[in-house]
Amino acid sequence: MKNTQWIYRKRPLAQVGAEHYELISQEIADDLAKNEVLIEAKYISVDPYMRIQQAESSSWEAPHPLDCVQGSGVVASVLKSKSDAFNEGDWVYAYSGWQTHAIMHAAELTKLNPQQAPVTTALGVLGMPGRTAWFGLTEAGKPKAGDTVVVSAAAGAVGSLVVQFAKLHGAKVIGITGSDNKNRWLSEELGIAHTLNYKRFNGAKDFALALKELTDGVDIYFDNVGGWITDAIIPQINLRGRIIICGQISQYNGGLDRVELSPRFLHHLLYKRATVQGILARDYIHRHDEMLRVVAPMIKSGLLKYTETMVQGFEQLPHALNMLFTGDNVGKMIVAV
Ligand SMILES: NC(=O)c1ccc[n+]([C@@H]2O[C@H](COP(=O)([O-])OP(=O)(O)OC[C@H]3O[C@@H](n4cnc5c(N)ncnc54)[C@H](OP(=O)(O)O)[C@@H]3O)[C@@H](O)[C@H]2O)c1
Repeated sequence: MKNTQWIYRKRPLAQVGAEHYELISQEIADDLAKNEVLIEAKYISVDPYMRIQQAESSSWEAPHPLDCVQGSGVVASVLKSKSDAFNEGDWVYAYSGWQTHAIMHAAELTKLNPQQAPVTTALGVLGMPGRTAWFGLTEAGKPKAGDTVVVSAAAGAVGSLVVQFAKLHGAKVIGITGSDNKNRWLSEELGIAHTLNYKRFNGAKDFALALKELTDGVDIYFDNVGGWITDAIIPQINLRGRIIICGQISQYNGGLDRVELSPRFLHHLLYKRATVQGILARDYIHRHDEMLRVVAPMIKSGLLKYTETMVQGFEQLPHALNMLFTGDNVGKMIVAV
């Protein structure tokens, strides 16, 4: 049996693309040891954190090593199993990376129930992005009814959930995206009344004025992007406001530790006794089931909406990763093998 893999070969200095990878095919043996399972990838995730790990410096962990399969979350079906816990045809989640097949230990697999939710949700709303949105907002943001919550990258995998969770907590929500179509989707499909398209403004000052027209101040800023959008929001933070640093995607392609990217306008935090807290999905892995117990019923009942941008073709993986940086996704970006 052939296993096709995207091997990560070269660290990108700016945008990531196929030139930083090599596509190879090699035989995969299917003689399994006890508790091993052979899986075939059906849906593969691309996520912004991959670009952080491609930098040379460490983040929450060492940089992604060169010359091995690009790591990622995968939804797969079981082809062959030497584990009592898995049968041929089962759907599973695995962190098996950008490859069509893998032999995994049963302990590395999570069984999915397609009757409960579409299996692709394990990469999005019921997976890592869902966990990020739920715990990031509720634990770090502590939203209350009447709060003004501003969310950047508001139509993305994490942001589109955060805006809805905030609304369900009774907050006034302002979603920021880089597209009128995304903002239309936020208002028409998710019921987010206030949106701003940052690309329509001439920098932070101009954008800050438009934000000021929508609100008297910001209680929670759920920051997915950093850069000048965040610069424009910090001075509008309210007394005891909370800034949640979930991501800084505007900076991932440009070299994360450049001096000019250092925090700015921090004196406003002093005046407002505001807090800034970084959050990481992995810190809540042990509470994933808790998130599922809350969020899965919301999906079933239609209270929470989600969408996915599905790119067709294993060979499109590096391109799909780059599409996160050109804003070509709404909701969770997934590659269908
Ligand atoms: N802390 C954690 O554990 C954790 C977990 C998951 C994700 N994250 C972070 O959360 C953020 C969103 O992740 P996601 O998976 O949900 O991705 P996503 O929002 O689905 O996709 C990324 C979006 O970012 C926006 N974007 C790209 N470049 C930008 C720029 N220069 N300025 C402003 N916006 C830009 C684009 O939307 P527009 O069209 O609106 O520009 C794009 O669609 C990322 O920063 C990611 O690193 C953190």
